[in-house]
Amino acid sequence: MPRDAVPQPVRLSDYRPPDWLVDTVHLDVRLHPTATRILARLALRPNPEGREGSPIVLDGDELSLKSIALDGTPLAGSAYVTTAGTLTVLAPPQRALTLEIETVVDPSANTKLMGLYRSSGAYCTQCEAEGFRRITYFPDRPDVLAVYTTRIEAEREEAPVLLANGNPVESGAVEGTSRHYAIWHDPWPKPSYLFALVGGRLDRITDHFVTATGKKVELGIYVEPGKTERAGYAMDALKRSMRWDEEVFGCEYDLDVFNIVAVADFNMGAMENKGLNIFNDKYVLASPETATDADYANIEGIIAHEYFHNWTGNRITCRDWFQLCLKEGLTVFRDQEFSSDQRSRPVKRISDVRLLKGHQFPEDAGPLAHPVRPSTYREINNFYTATVYEKGAEVVRMLKTLLGEEGFRAGMDLYFDRHDGDAATVEDFLACFADANGIDLTQFALWYAQSGTPHLAVSGHWDAQARTYRLDVVQTLPPTPGQPEKQPMVIPLALGLVGPDGNDLPMRLDDGTNAERGVLLVTRPRQSFVFRDVAERPVASLNRGFSAPVKLTSDLTTQDLVFLARHDADPFNRFDAAQTIALAHLVEATAARRTGRDLPSPAALVEALGATLSDATLDPAFIAQALSVPSESDVAREIADDVDPDAIHDARQALRRALSAALRPALEGAYDRHAPTGAYAPDAASAGRRALRNACLDLLAAGGTAPGLARALAHFRDADNMTDRFLALSVLAHNAPDAREEALAAFYERFRDDPLVVDKWLALQAQIAEPGTLERVRGLTGHPAFSWGNPNRVRSLVGSFAGANQTQFNRADGAGHDFVADAVLELDGRNPQVAARLLAAFKSWRSLEPGRRASAERALRRVAAKPGLSPDVGDIVSRSLE
Ligand code: ARG
Ligand code: ZN
Repeated sequence: MPRDAVPQPVRLSDYRPPDWLVDTVHLDVRLHPTATRILARLALRPNPEGREGSPIVLDGDELSLKSIALDGTPLAGSAYVTTAGTLTVLAPPQRALTLEIETVVDPSANTKLMGLYRSSGAYCTQCEAEGFRRITYFPDRPDVLAVYTTRIEAEREEAPVLLANGNPVESGAVEGTSRHYAIWHDPWPKPSYLFALVGGRLDRITDHFVTATGKKVELGIYVEPGKTERAGYAMDALKRSMRWDEEVFGCEYDLDVFNIVAVADFNMGAMENKGLNIFNDKYVLASPETATDADYANIEGIIAHEYFHNWTGNRITCRDWFQLCLKEGLTVFRDQEFSSDQRSRPVKRISDVRLLKGHQFPEDAGPLAHPVRPSTYREINNFYTATVYEKGAEVVRMLKTLLGEEGFRAGMDLYFDRHDGDAATVEDFLACFADANGIDLTQFALWYAQSGTPHLAVSGHWDAQARTYRLDVVQTLPPTPGQPEKQPMVIPLALGLVGPDGNDLPMRLDDGTNAERGVLLVTRPRQSFVFRDVAERPVASLNRGFSAPVKLTSDLTTQDLVFLARHDADPFNRFDAAQTIALAHLVEATAARRTGRDLPSPAALVEALGATLSDATLDPAFIAQALSVPSESDVAREIADDVDPDAIHDARQALRRALSAALRPALEGAYDRHAPTGAYAPDAASAGRRALRNACLDLLAAGGTAPGLARALAHFRDADNMTDRFLALSVLAHNAPDAREEALAAFYERFRDDPLVVDKWLALQAQIAEPGTLERVRGLTGHPAFSWGNPNRVRSLVGSFAGANQTQFNRADGAGHDFVADAVLELDGRNPQVAARLLAAFKSWRSLEPGRRASAERALRRVAAKPGLSPDVGDIVSRSLE
């Protein structure tokens, strides 16, 4: 197959069980920088559920095959064939047999960072989704589960630490050599994507955890030499995760050891390999001087996420990659719940919904839209998306909303019970909730199959005479790629009817039932709900807690929204009411900008935010969220077509200046009241105070007023932690062109030896909304701190430019689009996964105004025309242009 042939799509409907099963895998890995030798001994047997008489077809990718033997006898050249992607043993005896396969790989040349590669000299692996085939020939699919024993051998000098999945069995010197070895055994059958090994010169911190049934687990976190002091928070988060999963889901850990390794070169966030999680070091390492509060929160969430996979992903895995959301959506839901319990639940919900709307909604509205469970893919790595992860988590959350706390837990218990050890499907998962609760989830299952964000239009009608309140709900689902027609979904709509005194009115439906737990079930295209005994005109607080991932429009007036922003008992909707006012204002102001009309008045928003700022009962972290107005891409999404990013940017800046002026005394007061009281601590309460103080500073300095900038300079100078220092630096970089360079230079000098901090410095510069930014970013690609080989550097600089700088990426002259297209092509030969992810920044290109749309299309076509594209980039570009 030529490298640029876009592979044939894989279809869910074509699923067949494997013809051969693997019971055990013995690996003997002799680490060497450029020629690592892997001896694999596989115990295979025909699958009674497979096709009888089948050959043994193994996957392989960029392997050099040295030898192959069946039951101890070398195979004749005529007994097997290899292609670029497979090794097939022809006409094997149809019984249990052993294959011994010897392959050699070059970890130093592995720039794709899939399979066995090197990061800062250490050896590590990434096998999900299809990386194990880059280590040895294997049926590399998640429904083949085997017990692995791994022997690793290396130069003791080069790799004193040798780790693999499972429990340590033995280790020692290789007699008469400078080499040593370690043997690991993982008793839990697992698919190949969960395999991992690590070898290197690493420091570690250790701790232990005693499980609910009293078993002691040794915990280790391995980091680059000299960085152990930065691993403490991750260890703390790990222990809290282990306890939480026992308490909330009854999930206990199941090995004697649990190890985490942090590496500097990693395609994604982290990986849940059984007993040996491997992390992008940015999600492990933290110190007050180098990490922000947001970094701490991310570390806590991702440590939990990977740990929680031990049950949702590892003990119960996926039958095939179409079921990816089975483990990812569920595990994101679980990590969100964990963080909610550790921190503030409302604030966590607000930030999760911001993330969903900021990343998943645009995906669902563009050419890359796909269902939570796709039915076809050409490159599975392109489906580790916001839709599978974040919308997947929302679907699980809706199940919980529908079933209630106990019904949900009953379904989860049944799932763990019934499917432990299985490679399961979404149907298996849903059947557990249906069976445990005696309900039918057929219509609900559409959430997994239909892509696109449903739209709910809601209007309310109060009848003073009849004392009734009627809600009319219209559900529509837009067409998406491959899905022109849609069926109505089950939408759990949590709501409250807020009375004039700000308290919730009792909700009794006209059929006599109470809206159970405050949730209406919307199941049809049009539906009306009538509440009785409603003596006063209520204000409907709709989709409380963002109970369903929908776009909701209503007939609430601006005054109603101001009222909700002050009084809603649901904190999420209190936040959302003000955001809705701001968004409507920004859409109108953007249109005014483009047509030269006067800008609308922000009075309603000023009123709402003024009330929020002065409400002493509110959590500072909540107020901080409220103060941050919708992003440029939020506004672009709301406008939906003929988008002019410059007009949006101007409108947003003008609004921020207006808020700054109108709220100055309150902002200054809150800033002063939340001055630090002691040394930095990363806990949620302290972080919330910093968040509020920094949100105030950010608004005060909007537009570059002298007192605001003076405050920012002092904040920068006095900062004793990265949260404050970096916030002040961003404020200066965005608002103070005169102070910017000096501040950036000082920051770089201080942190130049700290790549994770340099990433922040790169990302910030890439986000400046000025015409000079493209040249700056281009220049930074030649900076000694930058490297195309490190995904974190690329994402910080080029990814931030493409994903978080709407005006400059979408420059009217097309230079931003061209630059990113060039970067994608530059990267594709080296690391297709990172290149494809970068290219996905074009996902909203069709919604741009005609000039920018044309330049985006030209850039995409230029990428598409390049010979030799990877399947990863080839897939994204072709779907983007479809
Ligand atoms: N399973 C990992 C997680 O916890 C993601 C790994 C994805 N890696 C990849 N190369 N696609 O989210
Ligand atoms: Zn995951």
